[in-house]
Amino acid sequence: MWDFFSTVRHRHSVRHYQSDMPVEDAPLHAILEMACAAPSAGDLQAYRIIVVRDPAERAALAAAAENQQFIAEAPVCLVFCADPKRSAREFGERGERLYAIQDTTIAAAYAQLAVVAAGMGSAWIGYFDTDAVRRLLTLDTELEPIALMTIGYPAELPTATPRRRINDVVSFR
Ligand SMILES: Cc1cc2nc3c(=O)[nH]c(=O)nc-3n(C[C@H](O)[C@H](O)[C@H](O)COP(=O)(O)O)c2cc1C
Repeated sequence: MWDFFSTVRHRHSVRHYQSDMPVEDAPLHAILEMACAAPSAGDLQAYRIIVVRDPAERAALAAAAENQQFIAEAPVCLVFCADPKRSAREFGERGERLYAIQDTTIAAAYAQLAVVAAGMGSAWIGYFDTDAVRRLLTLDTELEPIALMTIGYPAELPTATPRRRINDVVSFR
């Protein structure tokens, strides 16, 4: 088992998957548990995570995401949806506008690292037609799809992408 720093360093976007290697229920459950272990404003977990395994639905998600075909290829696609009304009940406009999205993306980030720890790969997809995703998953109108995440066993060895220098993104005061 890798330590936390190695886990973070080994996470790279995977855009080719072994479509004949399913994601078993046990690791998927562990990944979802880690998503739900993330912090959230007021501990409200103002999000919903939809697990899409069905090949036809994955193909439809790929079509809704400008034909990013690896979405159809990966055996699982998680759809992270914010639930702004849930946060608004406690935190009003700030909860609706900010916290629900933060809750959702932190949960997704935890899930993405858990995928590495589970020996699989993932990609975060933000480029999709929100209404198309809403329609095809018949989502509750209160839910806002924020990110898709493919999960599966990699069929490629992705290389590390560069990052901005720490001093360009951090200010010490
Ligand atoms: C908000 C967000 C949106 C993204 N949208 C897409 C996307 O639509 N398609 C895609 O292939 N990758 C997408 N990515 C993945 C990034 O391209 C990728 O994380 C970045 O290039 C760094 O590469 P790495 O993940 O391998 O470190 C997205 C990532 C984030 C955080």
